[in-house]
Amino acid sequence: MENADQAAAMPPPPLRPDHVPQELVRPYPFAARGTTSTAVPRDYIPEIHEFPPVFWVDGAPGSIPGAWVPRRYADLQQVYLDTDNFTAQGASPFASMIGESWFQIPSAAEPPLHSRYRLVLNPMFSPKRINKLDDRIRQYAHDRLQELRPHGECEFVSEFAFEFPIRVFLELMGLPQERMAEFLGWEHAILRSDSMEPVAAAVRSVTSYLTEQCEDRLSNPKDDLLTMVVETEIEGRKLTEDELKGFCFNLFVGGLDTVSTNMSAHFRHLAENADDQQFLRSNPEKIPDAIDELMRAYAAVTTLRICKQETEVGGVRILPGDLMLMPTLLAAHDPEVFPDPEIIDLARKPRHVSFGCGPHLCIGMYLAKREMRIAMEEALAILPAFSVAPDAEVVSFCSIAPIGPVELPLVWDV
Ligand code: HEM
Repeated sequence: MENADQAAAMPPPPLRPDHVPQELVRPYPFAARGTTSTAVPRDYIPEIHEFPPVFWVDGAPGSIPGAWVPRRYADLQQVYLDTDNFTAQGASPFASMIGESWFQIPSAAEPPLHSRYRLVLNPMFSPKRINKLDDRIRQYAHDRLQELRPHGECEFVSEFAFEFPIRVFLELMGLPQERMAEFLGWEHAILRSDSMEPVAAAVRSVTSYLTEQCEDRLSNPKDDLLTMVVETEIEGRKLTEDELKGFCFNLFVGGLDTVSTNMSAHFRHLAENADDQQFLRSNPEKIPDAIDELMRAYAAVTTLRICKQETEVGGVRILPGDLMLMPTLLAAHDPEVFPDPEIIDLARKPRHVSFGCGPHLCIGMYLAKREMRIAMEEALAILPAFSVAPDAEVVSFCSIAPIGPVELPLVWDV
């Protein structure tokens, strides 16, 4: 999935196309690049669900070009499933930003090639394969939380949520943990820069480092994902260098900030809702269900699609070239699907689309859920009851980048 800071790299917004009727144009807070101190998502979503099923948001400088936004679960699902009329190809600017021609694999691959990639890549992310990482994932969470506990406070986003998925990623790929700080720097440059140069420099660094590592695995195979990828075959041949780059980069942009942001939103919820926190402390076996409901309620990711052929979604005519913003947060709060969507009921067991759906369903879903479950289990076992620091104002990103806390100051008794 793409991150929003493609915004920094996108061409200036075009004029609103002629086929967009004025009555379908709406303001959409999550399209601007910005932050908010309101309790995302409660404050905006109900009003957006009064809009037409598919509405148009105009482009804004420094943000995305104008785009259609399907707000209903059913329409979002239709677009995700309809690979004849919609594509993710061309929505990501990263390769062109550095003058290269690879594309992200599998997210920007078209059928039937996409399913051939998934066939060989899926087993690398199966629950069985992820089980092998369990002990290491738990160890990282445990050690870091033990370090933080005596302080009685932490800024959860920078002191836990950002580092943790990077440690897991390095473990998964078979890369040295000493690279942590460097990966963090690249991730921040790609996701948080206001201009293109630092983004391009970081894309170049990530892809050249990961390509080097792939080359190394050809002569020094290890028990890690990079070795599996370089040894895998598709249509009777090995992956090309561009394919390896596209795959490694896809994991990098898809698998780090998404976990950090969702996890931070979940911890904010527990910090602000003492009853839910206490419930999970007393019933840790309910954590997986709770994470599913928190994944619904605080769905963070907006993905992109481009229309390939004229079609209709939610009664609206969509033309080739039109951009679709696919906010999983809106689908997750569709009152036609989820009764009282603003209420967070940890026993709800929702069928959300926060990991997408259809052929491009998140390949890292089991890994992400495992990371979030283990982090929550360890935090509730190690930290005493925690809350948001008194007088702290929690500010959240409010853009097509993952929506979640910028900082989350937590306190507990020592
Ligand atoms: C809470 C964390 C995560 C969330 C919310 C999330 C969300 C998503 C979503 C919504 C999609 C669908 C994109 C689309 O259809 O355009 C997706 C795809 C993808 N995700 Fe995740 N993701 C998460 C974690 C991860 C992790 C940990 C990895 C790998 C390390 C990962 C790798 C990918 C890849 C490679 C795809 C593309 C799959 C395809 O196109 O076939 N994600 N993710």
